[in-house]
Amino acid sequence: MHPTTLTLTDPENQQTITLPVRKGTIGPAAVDVSGLYREFGMFTYDPGFLATASCSSSITYIDGEAGILRYRGYSIEELATKASFLEVAYLLIYGELPTEYDLSKFEHNICHHGMIDEALKNFFRGFHHNAHPMAVLIGVTGSLSAFYHDTLDIHTPEQRELSAYRVIAKLPTIAAAAYKHSKGEPFIYPRYNMRYVENFLHMMFATPCEQYRVNRLAEKAMNLLFILHADHEQNASTSTVRLTASSGANPYACVAAGIASLWGPAHGGANEEVLNMLEEIKDVKHINVYLDKAKNKNDSFRLMGFGHRVYKHYDPRAKILRGVCHRVLKELADSNNPLFELALRLEEIALQDAYFLERKLYPNVDFYSGIIYRALGIPVSMFTAMFAIARSSGWMAHWLEMMNDPEQRIGRPRQLYLGHALRQYNSIGKR
Ligand code: ACO
Repeated sequence: MHPTTLTLTDPENQQTITLPVRKGTIGPAAVDVSGLYREFGMFTYDPGFLATASCSSSITYIDGEAGILRYRGYSIEELATKASFLEVAYLLIYGELPTEYDLSKFEHNICHHGMIDEALKNFFRGFHHNAHPMAVLIGVTGSLSAFYHDTLDIHTPEQRELSAYRVIAKLPTIAAAAYKHSKGEPFIYPRYNMRYVENFLHMMFATPCEQYRVNRLAEKAMNLLFILHADHEQNASTSTVRLTASSGANPYACVAAGIASLWGPAHGGANEEVLNMLEEIKDVKHINVYLDKAKNKNDSFRLMGFGHRVYKHYDPRAKILRGVCHRVLKELADSNNPLFELALRLEEIALQDAYFLERKLYPNVDFYSGIIYRALGIPVSMFTAMFAIARSSGWMAHWLEMMNDPEQRIGRPRQLYLGHALRQYNSIGKR
């Protein structure tokens, strides 16, 4: 049983501080420090938010020690095997699994918002053909607010819902268009008669020259990857979306900020880095050299796809993907995929190494996702864009949740100031 208050003693100032403790449904309780500065003139100090809950949320639950991930109370293992991505997106946004009617209406709505304004196409032409797709995604997504003025009033629930549909629907179109631009191929319009993932693969790989049929196993594998990436509570990009939104910014601007945060190699950019790393390691015989580099504190190299802020055990998403890798590679690529063999061996060796064991560094979701994306024909530079498409459902679920949160205020962290105290200004000739 948790205490309902926490008492701290500050002998220097001879004061005792009593703080309320808030309990969640499950998981650790949180000390409510919101009145600390007002009443006692002190801040809390927690760089990187290692022990700080920035908000309350009912969307996703993670137990990092036990390797548990649940969306709205449903285990990721069950959703990964039984649901479709849009079913999961509905669950994240509305809090309940959809009925057949709800789901077909939701799918219809998302599907029919897949087109982007024709004028938006001009934006792509402004990018050089070798622009990174994430740079294009940030720019074009941010510009959606210049086109869809009927969804910019964040105080109207109907407009908020419509903007969520638009973000989830248009991100695949924008990402596929970014890819087509890089190839110098014509954009392929979204198809209303296709499922979400099928439609995306069609926009990526079809050309106007011939009929293109989406491989069902590829669609299934990508559906699974999208479910696994759909949400992960207050991660860096979701927190960025929330912080951006806290000032009242429009949803498209918030999502563009989230995409920018996701791009970093410590977050969503890791799936791209994992593939680059495996290609650099090249052979099992070089693994130890790279492990030594990762352990060397004077070397900035990190084992990409390893470690997680929350999971101090095997990431449950990585466990699911590890199994799926075998089947996808067997059916879509060569079964003796050298990169997969290398990844398996790297994992095995790292997990016998005291450095990784002591620090509880296990493979995360991105250790295996890139290998599958590659087998599906997705170019490495598009990996993080795949993540962004999937995470758009989580970002919008969090944004909608915070818009209804009576405790929501502008996010404004404080600081521990370590600079100079008051100094005298000397005129330039006297310095
Ligand atoms: N390789 C080598 N050492 C590592 C790694 C790694 N991948 N990750 C953490 N460490 C070490 C750190 O050097 C540190 O060692 P020390 O205690 O001797 O100083 C210790 O483990 C703790 O690391 P922190 O950086 O404090 O852990 P944090 O929780 O801040 O970082 C992170 C988590 C960013 C994911 C980190 O593990 C990392 O950079 N991993 C590689 C990038 C990656 O795979 N990112 C994807 C994350 S999952 C996702 O976003 C979907």
